[in-house]
Amino acid sequence: MKMHDLAFSSRPLSTTVSELTNSGRDIIFAPYGDFWRQLRKIAITELLSARRVLSFRRVREEEVAAMLRAVAAAADDVIDMRERLSTVVSDVSARVLLGDRCKERDMFLRQLDVGIELAAGFNPADLWPSSWLARELTTSVRRAKRCRDAVFRMLDRIIKEHLERVESGEADKAEDLLTVLLKIQRDGELDMDVVKSMIFDLLSGGSETSATSLEWCMAELIQKPRVMKRVTDEVRRTFAQHGTVPEQDLSELRYLHLVIRETLRLHPPLPLLLPRECQEPRRVLGPRVSRCS
Ligand code: HEM
Repeated sequence: MKMHDLAFSSRPLSTTVSELTNSGRDIIFAPYGDFWRQLRKIAITELLSARRVLSFRRVREEEVAAMLRAVAAAADDVIDMRERLSTVVSDVSARVLLGDRCKERDMFLRQLDVGIELAAGFNPADLWPSSWLARELTTSVRRAKRCRDAVFRMLDRIIKEHLERVESGEADKAEDLLTVLLKIQRDGELDMDVVKSMIFDLLSGGSETSATSLEWCMAELIQKPRVMKRVTDEVRRTFAQHGTVPEQDLSELRYLHLVIRETLRLHPPLPLLLPRECQEPRRVLGPRVSRCS
């Protein structure tokens, strides 16, 4: 893939995906070019640098500890871990991205499910992309527009509250990613719709993938009591002194690390990656790949 990276750097923009992503004005679906480079540069240097990721350690530790306390408190009941994992992942993402838990989290997660279903599903309008009739007759394009509008309206409210918090001096000292993007937007490098699309990408990119991987990991451990015992012993042995699980010591959990890697191998959340489109004819390991396939 490294050899042909640039030729495959764009992704196909179906009618539905185009509606969801504001015509590819986001990180994931921007076609290869200057705008693509600009968004990746911002993502790499400003949003996801090692220093920035480290700066959110406290958020991750607090949210995981809150989830564990809630699970321990409900230990006598049946606990829906799927829901708990999905909640903890989206709460961490929301605090990192927006500076606070998202009050409209449930609505966002519902819209995210709709967006994923629409982006992955079949849409007759994609067979006749230039036909207005096909667009009018299929519901998916309208549903995609409704989904994006709902998420953008939610982000409008969040940005308004965020700006008010910053103005009143109530904002947290640690910079969340929305603050970083709004600074870049004020410098005139990005327009507000792109800021919202980038936040939408990061909120959605990290939610389903991380929560599903955690859920598979737990499901696999429940199926394999011997492995579960070894993982539990390792965690207890490593953190016996602390009583908590500090993030900087997670690297000591070598066996758990292997379990996570094996889980991702057995159940990759996006086994075929996100689709890519060939920009110029290429030969890949023998077969010829034509343009736009
Ligand atoms: C277990 C966790 C995760 C898995 C398995 C996963 C998997 C993937 C895969 C397979 C791709 C497509 C790569 C390609 O086409 O070459 C991707 C892209 C992406 N992911 Fe993740 N991801 C995870 C977590 C996250 C998180 C936490 C975020 C947000 C902070 C995120 C944001 C993105 C973005 C923005 C892209 C598009 C990158 C691009 O087009 O260059 N992902 N992810």
